[in-house]
Amino acid sequence: MTLGILKESEGEQRVAIAPESVSALLKLGIQQVIVEQGAGSSAFFSDATYEAQGARIANRDTVLKDSNILVKIHPLNTDDAQKLSAGQILIGQMNPLSNRGVVEDLLKTKASVFSLDLAPRSTRAQALDVLSSMATVSGYKAVLLAATHLPTFFPMFMTAAGTIKPAKVLILGAGVAGLQAISTAKRLGGVVEAFDVRAAAKEEVLSLGAKFVEVEGAVDDKAAGGYAVEQTEEFKQRQAQLIHDHAAAADVIICTAQIPGRKAPVLIRRETVAAMKNGAVIVDLAASTGGNCEVTENGKTIRTESGVCIIGDSNLPSSIPKDASAMFGKNIVNFMKLILIKGELTLNFEDDIIAATCIAHEGQIVSERLKAVMAG
Ligand code: NAI
Repeated sequence: MTLGILKESEGEQRVAIAPESVSALLKLGIQQVIVEQGAGSSAFFSDATYEAQGARIANRDTVLKDSNILVKIHPLNTDDAQKLSAGQILIGQMNPLSNRGVVEDLLKTKASVFSLDLAPRSTRAQALDVLSSMATVSGYKAVLLAATHLPTFFPMFMTAAGTIKPAKVLILGAGVAGLQAISTAKRLGGVVEAFDVRAAAKEEVLSLGAKFVEVEGAVDDKAAGGYAVEQTEEFKQRQAQLIHDHAAAADVIICTAQIPGRKAPVLIRRETVAAMKNGAVIVDLAASTGGNCEVTENGKTIRTESGVCIIGDSNLPSSIPKDASAMFGKNIVNFMKLILIKGELTLNFEDDIIAATCIAHEGQIVSERLKAVMAG
């Protein structure tokens, strides 16, 4: 059994598996790990560090052809996808719920394809939950980015030159990224408040020492697997007013609110941005799905006429590539433990994690969640 690690495309610094996980793969019964030349270089892992762990370096076509199992974070491009053959396995984070083209390309190959972002949010799935591990990185880095763009300090300072007030931080969405952003902002000395539509988020926010901004009457659908659901128009209006008031007082806003497979909810309107402080910073992690802020431009850092800096970046894990790759790699190793039983490849679709993450197998979609999105 050979596992191949492919290089990501330009602009992505991470690699799907860091050298430290190679030995764990070999222990699971993988006979050979082959790494595309330079795959880890942007994450500060040289080819030699992979070789030292027992991997072999090869060119892309060899990795694509000789691997029974291929790993790559982002989807393969159409050309590479066409090179897959039936029986090969591809594992990554392909965002299939909003990426129909990728799913259609992969179905044609008859390969078995697993996208770990579709894993159920269960205790058993936690060890392979790439959304959680990458959201941890994003939430942390978002606050650091905000701090470096802010024209003021984060913590309170009492100095001979006067007292400096702490930064007021508003976190929108208290999922994994939001909770990590709360912790990081608290560690930096900010005064933090957070908002979410899920009732369960309140307790978590309070336990981290932040204030919970509450709008009564949210739709909190338990059947949505812990995810947020679309809210009523009346709720959205009350929410908009409350967020407007809190945003106007904030120095930093970290936006993390998302609804899987849908456009991100717009929580900060243009007029709210205009009412914010000169020099305030918004970091919008939902930029790639439309943004929580109406003014966000995906992939750009802009400054409005009134002096608000808006950073639209949904791929912050790429900016901490070494640790983010190590975490992603461990998630993959944990997934491999489910499909490699005593060194033999075993795709047991009775296992809810294997079924939920499988985009394509023998030309058919297996994931029920993806089937529903593709049919809709
Ligand atoms: P996400 O990335 O899908 O969304 C981020 C946050 O935005 C969520 O907390 C969501 O409720 C919130 N949000 C959505 N629409 C909003 C709106 N209009 N206004 C304000 N907030 C809004 O969420 P993430 O981080 O992926 O977590 C989703 C759920 O999964 C959570 O319940 C989390 O606790 C749970 N979870 C469970 C895990 C496990 O047991 N294995 C692991 C990680 C998360």
